[in-house]
Parts: sequence; C-alpha cells; structure tokens
Amino acid sequence: MYSTMTLLLLGSVPGIMALEPRQATGITVDLSRTYQTMDGFGTSEAFQRAVTMQRLSETEQRKFLDLMFSTEKGAGLTILRNGIGSSPDMRDDHMVSIQPKNPGGPKATPQYVWDKSDNGQLWVTTEAVHTYGVKTIYANAWSAPGYMKTNGNDANGGSLCGVSGASCSSGDWKQAFADYLVQYVKYYAAENITITNLGFLNEPDYTTSYASMSSSGTQAQDFIKILRPTLDRNGLTDLQINCCDTMGWSTMNSMLNQMRSVESSLGVATGHAYTSGPSSPLSTKLKTWMTEAADNNGAWTSSWYSNGGAGEGMTWANNIYSAITSGNVSAYLYWIGAQDRSSNTNSKMIRVVNKAVDPSKRLWAMANWSRFVRPGAVRVGTSGGGGGGMRVTAFRNVDGTVSVQVINNNGGGATVAITVNGGEGFAAAGAKGWVTDNSRDCNQIDAAVDAAGKTVSGSVPARSMVTFVLRPAAKV
Ligand SMILES: *[C@@H]1O[C@H](CO)[C@@H](O)[C@H](O)[C@H]1NC(C)=O
Ligand SMILES: *[C@@H]1O[C@H](CO)[C@@H](O)[C@H](O)[C@H]1NC(C)=O
Ligand SMILES: *[C@@H]1O[C@H](CO)[C@@H](O)[C@H](O)[C@H]1NC(C)=O
Repeated sequence: MYSTMTLLLLGSVPGIMALEPRQATGITVDLSRTYQTMDGFGTSEAFQRAVTMQRLSETEQRKFLDLMFSTEKGAGLTILRNGIGSSPDMRDDHMVSIQPKNPGGPKATPQYVWDKSDNGQLWVTTEAVHTYGVKTIYANAWSAPGYMKTNGNDANGGSLCGVSGASCSSGDWKQAFADYLVQYVKYYAAENITITNLGFLNEPDYTTSYASMSSSGTQAQDFIKILRPTLDRNGLTDLQINCCDTMGWSTMNSMLNQMRSVESSLGVATGHAYTSGPSSPLSTKLKTWMTEAADNNGAWTSSWYSNGGAGEGMTWANNIYSAITSGNVSAYLYWIGAQDRSSNTNSKMIRVVNKAVDPSKRLWAMANWSRFVRPGAVRVGTSGGGGGGMRVTAFRNVDGTVSVQVINNNGGGATVAITVNGGEGFAAAGAKGWVTDNSRDCNQIDAAVDAAGKTVSGSVPARSMVTFVLRPAAKV
C-alpha cells in the first residue's frame, strides 16, 4: 500500500519555532523490533463524578467531554472505566446497585432495576462511544452488593460468599454475582453500548470505608471458574475478564501465581500504581493494563513543570513513559477524569471552578500520548536520544503512521534528527510535531526535513514533550 513515509501535520494550532543551530541528537526508529500492542489511555467518572459533571451547563458539559475524548480539542482518551454499583443507595458518592435489595437469597428470582443513569455513567459512556468513537469500555465492580458478602456490607472489605474460606449462612452467591454482572452488561447492550472488558474486583488487597471486597488470587480463581462459562453461555464470548486491579502493581504478581489454572480465561491482567508502580512487566503473557494512578494528596496544580512535583504534567508524561517501556503496559488509566467536588487534590485531571471546567497539565500529558498512540499501535524499537534526561519511544499505528515521543527532562533545549529504518523507506516532507510545555498544550510546531528526504529534525524545548508523526505517502 505505502512505500514511503512523510511527516504529517495533524495539529490545529500552527506555530513557528526557530531551530537553534546546535548539534542534533540522532534517533533511529527500528520498525522490525516490536514490543507490546497498545489498547489505549483512559480514565474514570465513577463514584458519581459523572453526576457532578451533569449539573454543569450544556456548554461546559461539552467542553468536559471534548477535553476527555476529542483528538482535536482534548486528550483523545480511548478507554473509559466505569464503576458497577454495589450500594443500596446514592448517599454521598455511593454507586447504587442494579439490585439494591436482597432478592431473598442466591437462588431467588433476581430483582434487577435499571435507572438509565448508572450513577451518571451512561451519559458519559454514550457520548464517548457514539460522539467520539471510543471502543473500549471497562466495567469494573468495586464490590458485590453487601448481601452477597461475608460482612453483609458492600464497604469495609468482606468476601464474596462461596469462594474458598468464605461460607455464609445465606448460601453460595458466586453464580448470582456472575448473573448480576451479565445483567449489567445486558443493560448497556440494550442502550447500544458494548462493554468490552469486565472486572469484578478493585483493590482486593485493601479494605476501606467505601465499596471494597477482599480477595486472594485463589478466591478470584474460584469466581472466574463460574464467571467465564456464565459469560459464554450468555453469548458474551468476546467480553474480556480483567483482573484484579490490585492496589499495587507487584501485588498482582502474587495474585497471578494463585490463579494460573484460570489465566487462559482472563483477558487482561490489571494493577494500580499506588503501593508499587509498573516498573517491570507482570509475570504473565496476557496483556497488562495499569488501570489506576493519581496524585491523591497533593494540592491542585496546573503546572507542566515547576519542581518535579507529584501532580505536575511532566511527571505524568514520565510516569506513562516508564509504565510503557519498563512495565510493558498496553493501557494507562488516570483515576478521575473530571469532577465538580470540593476536594482540592490532583486526584482528577480536570476540576470545576465557578461552574467552568479547568484542565490541568496532567490531562495534556495524557493527550501527548493518547492522541498519537492509538488503539492497536505497536511499540517499536528506538536507539539514540535516550541519554541524560531524554526519553524516546516510537509506535506504529494501525493507519501506518509512526509516532515518536521525545521527552526532554533537561533544563536546556535539544534538537533531534529522526530516521526510520527496518523495512519500508521513509521519506519525510513537510515535517511537523506537537509540543507541550508550561505555555503550550499539544501545540503544533515545525520540524524540518533534510535534502534527501530521509531525516526529520525538530526542536524539543527544555522540560517538554514533543511528538513527531510520520505518515506513509500513498504509492503513486
Ligand atoms: C448503535 O451504535 C452504532 C455505532 O456505535 C451506530 O452505528 C448504530 O446506528 C447504533 N444503533 C442504534 C439502534 O442506535
Ligand atoms: C509484554 O506484554 C506482552 C503482551 O502484551 C507479552 O506477550 C510479552 O511477553 C510481555 N513482555 C515481557 C517482557 O514481559
Ligand atoms: C505534550 O504535552 C506538552 C506539554 O503541554 C506539549 O508541549 C506537547 O506538545 C504535547 N503533545 C505532544 C504530542 O508533544
């Protein structure tokens, strides 16, 4: 189809950047050296964060959705993680269950209810899928409803009745919980939304006062033995099971070691980055996703770079780089996308001030990755440019474009010269890049092509991230 590559200009805000006459750092992209395939980048509007955004004016709602999912006006996120409710009510930020009341035991006829809101998430999901083309919807239960658990409460830990070491006088609820999850997926299907990934645990290694359910790997395995055939019987053979969203990345290895007999029934191995981050691959051949990370403590900052603080955009650009290159992740999800709540931390990427949405540079850090590394992109090898504070990755997208990310953590600017080897010839013409730094949010900048049309050069300012996109020229 394509024989040569040229640099493509995709950005919307043109700007001219003079190239300093300094020594260029050579970067070579090797298309024949391949790593993981990417599923995308995402976030969540769980725990009624979606409800808080629905209270805004239509104009601000649209700005919020654009910032989340538009590839031109925002981060172009491609994964949405929804919470499957387990609570009997919507008090505080509780996620109400589709079966708030005990139907009378695990064998009783279920009494499901569908409120066509799903804690505000049906709205966000409908927009994501039908307005912005998001295809990956991860529905994740933080807990089973309380009446299915050893502690009779959807909060404060407790185990699913019927898994190893968790017997209850009310009986074995494993099948009932599997049926319940199927029903949730069916409600979305009836709204013309395909849930692609299903999880039944969130931080099973952490007990807390909001929805939470404890589980060992062995207990998760007990449930998966029921869940997988239940999904298949209901025609949901393409629905992937995600497990187990552990609090820390390394904890997931311990769980996986206890669930090898069901590993082939799983779709994706998932872990969070709180108690340990994705600094090495999980011990599995499955795809892995880092499904939750955030700066939950630091006071709100909109800074790209100030001193390397936990909430700064540049810090997150680097966190994502590490998760992809060292942790082998196929997806990276920030905790909350946007919320209108009094909390003043960096737990979200977008806050609301005076009823108007206000994005942080954490969102633009995600944009730097998500806009240019699209679902199905394969990470490919690079050499050069990785010294000092420079970090380089490259991906081949499904549409044939090659995107190259350069993060410059240094206090001085740099010039890079990119060539692509390994297979097709890549000529470059009309090269462009996109830069994010303290003053720019994914702004388009100029890049230059050498006389032979083989090398693309561009400037990477101090403490910035720049993506260069090379597009194959159609064969004539
Ligand atoms: C369902 O969604 C798809 C796209 O996701 C759309 O093409 C189709 O028209 C929708 N069908 C209905 C009945 O809304
Ligand atoms: C990286 O993940 C892929 C699955 O996406 C897997 O096949 C591969 O073995 C993993 N690589 C390492 C080094 O663990
Ligand atoms: C990434 O974010 C930085 C900081 O806002 C910006 O300079 C850069 O252009 C963004 N996008 C890309 C693709 O480089």
